[in-house]
Amino acid sequence: MGKRIGILMGGMSSEKEISLKTGDAVFEALKSRGHDVVKVFVDRDIDQVLRQTPIDVAFLALHGTYGEDGCIQGLLEIMGIPYTGAGVLASALAMDKLKSKEMFRLHNVPTPPYYCVDGSDIDKLEAIHGSFGFPAFVKPRRDGSSVGAGRANNLAELVERVEDAAQFDSSVLVERFVAGREIAVAVLDGRALGAIEIVPRGSFYDYKSKYQKGQSDYFFPARLSPTRYKGVLNIAERASRCLGADVYSRVDVLVTEGENEYVLEVNTLPGMTATSLTPKIAAGAGYSFADLCEVILNRATTHSGRKASTQRSASVNPPAGDSVPDESEPALSKSAS
Ligand SMILES: Nc1ncnc2c1ncn2[C@@H]1O[C@H](COP(=O)(O)OP(=O)(O)O)[C@@H](O)[C@H]1O
Ligand SMILES: [Mg+2]
Repeated sequence: MGKRIGILMGGMSSEKEISLKTGDAVFEALKSRGHDVVKVFVDRDIDQVLRQTPIDVAFLALHGTYGEDGCIQGLLEIMGIPYTGAGVLASALAMDKLKSKEMFRLHNVPTPPYYCVDGSDIDKLEAIHGSFGFPAFVKPRRDGSSVGAGRANNLAELVERVEDAAQFDSSVLVERFVAGREIAVAVLDGRALGAIEIVPRGSFYDYKSKYQKGQSDYFFPARLSPTRYKGVLNIAERASRCLGADVYSRVDVLVTEGENEYVLEVNTLPGMTATSLTPKIAAGAGYSFADLCEVILNRATTHSGRKASTQRSASVNPPAGDSVPDESEPALSKSAS
């Protein structure tokens, strides 16, 4: 009897709709390869659902708060259920754009200058912003899919943008606006698979350009010189490694005319619909969508560093703790000089 795979989808974040699409796509792909798959809809009662619907491994098709930030990962660790993607620490670091940027700076991964402001400090914004300058780019500290994100060209717009972003997270990230081209890099097993260039119809890669057909043009491979292309792949590998999220992730990068590259964020559970960026990049590297789903599934594990015997069930392949970087011995310390 094969392992029963639960596709964990839905969830409680602003990206629920995307998660349902990711879940459907992964479900169909794994089913087509003969796997025993079941959809598991995630809500506040997920612990009970998991006890009623026993699964051997969890394929995480979740995005955003509770699904991508270490919360569900923590629950699965406790229950001893191996799961796909990054562990608790890497997920939490990657979801928190402020903490990610602190790690990037520690490891010399270029990222735009920034500061963080609390939504309740809006009356002090002028003083806090000080000489930071304009244009600035504002986004919720811990959210995704560009919700609540936008450009501010002056103080009045900054106040508006911070108010918008604060609807999604009480803590708001303000970054130097980078005029550049949008690149996404998929990382699998610590290696960058390739870089895709996105040209959104709108002024930036907002929710609409991400998820509405025809709202963005894509170029694979990204239109960069061979040297620069390699450089971007290298930066993305370093960015994901310094968070401990290099088993599988997507790194968002902006590249300027002036030959500067800036990492915006690492996504530990990137969108996996048939038209999402990661499958597009993987296709360029020779993986079909179902291949990619199977590779991700095969890396499923728990990350606690405990012996497999203390776990309810072992990972599908490879065994827990084997060939998968152990996050209790994080990549952080390995790469620190
Ligand atoms: N500092 C910045 N300068 C210019 N555009 C930005 C900046 N930060 C983000 N953006 C735009 O907003 C989009 C979303 O930002 P990102 O940091 O990737 O957050 P998320 O995708 O989690 O919402 C980016 O893909 C890019 O188009
Ligand atoms: Mg992004």
